[in-house]
Order: sequence, then structure tokens, then C-alpha cells
Amino acid sequence: MANWVTGKVTDITNWTDSLFSIKVHAPIEKFTAGQFAKLALEIEGTRIQRAYSYVNSPNDNNLEFYLVTVPEGKLSPRLATLKAGDELLVTEQAAGFFVLDEVPDSQTLWMISTGTAIGPYLSILQLGDNLDRFENIVLIHAVRWGKDLSYLPIMKELEKKFQGKLRIQTIVSREKWPDSLMGRIPALIENGELEAAVGLPIQASSSHIMLCGNPQMVRDTQQLLKEQRNMTKHLRRKPGHITSEQYW
Ligand SMILES: Cc1cc2nc3c(=O)[nH]c(=O)nc-3n(C[C@H](O)[C@H](O)[C@H](O)COP(=O)(O)OP(=O)(O)OC[C@H]3O[C@@H](n4cnc5c(N)ncnc54)[C@H](O)[C@@H]3O)c2cc1C
Ligand SMILES: NC(=O)c1ccc[n+]([C@@H]2O[C@H](COP(=O)([O-])OP(=O)(O)OC[C@H]3O[C@@H](n4cnc5c(N)ncnc54)[C@H](OP(=O)(O)O)[C@@H]3O)[C@@H](O)[C@H]2O)c1
Repeated sequence: MANWVTGKVTDITNWTDSLFSIKVHAPIEKFTAGQFAKLALEIEGTRIQRAYSYVNSPNDNNLEFYLVTVPEGKLSPRLATLKAGDELLVTEQAAGFFVLDEVPDSQTLWMISTGTAIGPYLSILQLGDNLDRFENIVLIHAVRWGKDLSYLPIMKELEKKFQGKLRIQTIVSREKWPDSLMGRIPALIENGELEAAVGLPIQASSSHIMLCGNPQMVRDTQQLLKEQRNMTKHLRRKPGHITSEQYW
């Protein structure tokens, strides 16, 4: 059974009509970058809880979550109405294995996300620990519209901070957007556009791939990497090249 603590909303940023970030103060136990909490509200006498990844570094007490309002969803539209000063429930202990300790050494670490799943990578990169073992890190954020690139300024700051070790690449699927590729992740890997834009290869001998977000993207990309690049899922008992987390 999860232990719940009460959190207080300190800030809300509405990025677009459907994307928002919530900052919360709550007496949680320390989490590992890449993990998620459960957030909950009592709605008509029932506690509705869902998983949300931490965006902030574990060293930062301003807990931050990046959300999309799922139309007809039970919890996300309610979380979208919260204001500074409101309360919500947060699990005291974080959960999840989408963390660097589960990722083997490799020359290039690819951090690939769709939508709000950029969050765990921002937490990992803002903390910045345990990354010396990768020569290159590539952070990919794929969204529908250019306006959905909410964290691009932070991605750019991180790129500067890492002084050449980190490369960022945005993908916008539904319109042409400056400095972004257009299309979907598996297609852009298959046609070589993603690697050409980044300037690094995706290959079993040198790369580890983290995939996070839309479950169909995760499945399709995994399948493609298996068929075309001879890459396999990474398991503790059987090392491979792909670590993934699906958001639904
Ligand atoms: C490990 C983990 C981490 C997660 N982290 C985040 C996060 O950081 N930010 C975030 O916004 N969500 C995140 N999610 C998704 C989140 O837990 C909820 O599923 C989401 O907010 C929808 O909840 P709901 O109650 O509004 O909709 P529900 O009433 O539960 O579901 C409606 C339907 O919407 C679809 N759906 C669910 N989530 C999404 C989504 N994100 N995008 C599109 N369709 C969806 C599914 O088909 C689902 O059956 C995460 C999920 C997991 C498993
Ligand atoms: N983003 C918005 O403006 C917006 C507005 C209102 C409501 N919503 C709702 O919010 C929820 C999540 O939307 P989202 O935009 O955050 O996430 P999303 O639908 O997962 O889209 C994010 C990115 O993932 C891509 N993608 C989807 N399926 C894929 C697959 N099988 N393989 C590879 N890439 C794939 C999308 O490309 P495609 O564009 O090709 O699908 C898009 O570039 C949805 O329920 C949506 O209805 C979103």
C-alpha cells in the first residue's frame, strides 16, 4: 500500500490549452531521477490516482510534473484546474525503473521521448550524475505542434551546460518547424534522417536507446530497432540495447 502525503501546489504554468506544469511542495522521500510519483485527488468520494514522472532534479525541493490534459480523462482534466495554494496527494515514495542505474555503459545514450515523456530525461540531465560513462548523449523530443515544445529553453540550457556532450533534436509531426525534423520517430530512424541531423549513428555496437511516452511509439521503435539494427530489449539477466517506459 502506498503512503500518501499532502502536497501544496506552489505554481502552475499553462504552456498551451492542453499542456501544463505543476510545481508542488510535499514531504516526500528522496526519489531517483527518472522515477515517477502518483498524484491523486478525491473526486466525488473516490481517490483517483495516476502516475506522473518527476521533471525536477532530486536535489530540487520544488517538485515538478509536466502534464497533458487527456480529453475525457478522469484525473488530468481535474489536475489542470488546480491553482497555487491548492492541495493534492502525492505518494511518499517514488517508483519505477526508468533510471540510469538500469542503463548499461555505451558510447552514445539516446534519450527519446514523445509529449510529456521528456520529463524523466530532464530530471536525469538536471541532476547530471553518472553520465561520465557516456561519450555522447542525445535528447530527442517529439511533439505534434511546435508550440508543444514547452521545455525547449531548458533543453538548450542543458545542451550548453554539457559543452558538446549533449545534443538535442526536436521533432514536430504536424507542421514544419525551425530546427525540427518533421514526421514520426520510427520513420525518421528508418530513413536515416534522425541520425543525419544529430550526426551520430544508432547501432548495437555503440548505442543504448531509452524510449519513453506514447506506447505505440515505444512498440514501433523497438520493433524497428530489432529488425533493422539488431538491437534487443535490455534486461538485468540478459543485457541488450533498449530501455523503455510506456505512459499508458
Ligand atoms: C510510469 C508512468 C509515468 C507517467 N508520467 C506522466 C507524465 O509525466 N505526464 C503525463 O501527462 N502523463 C503521465 N502518465 C500518464 C498518466 O498516468 C495518466 O494516464 C494520464 O494523465 C491520463 O489520466 P486520466 O485519468 O486523465 O485519463 P484516464 O481516464 O485514465 O484515461 C483515458 C485514456 O487516455 C489515454 N491516455 C492516458 N494517458 C495518456 C497520455 N499521457 N497521452 C495520451 N493519451 C493518454 C489512454 O488510452 C487512457 O485509457 C504516466 C503514466 C505512467 C504509467
Ligand atoms: N498536443 C496537443 O496539441 C493536444 C491538444 C489537445 C489534446 N491533446 C491530447 O493529449 C493526449 C496526448 O497528446 P500528445 O500530443 O501529448 O501525445 P501524442 O499523441 O503521443 O503525440 C506526441 C508525438 O508522438 C507521435 N506519435 C504518436 N503515435 C506514434 C507512433 N505510433 N509512433 C511514433 N510516433 C507517434 C505524434 O505524432 P502524430 O502527430 O503523427 O500522431 C506526436 O509527434 C491525446 O489524448 C491528445 O488528444 C493533445
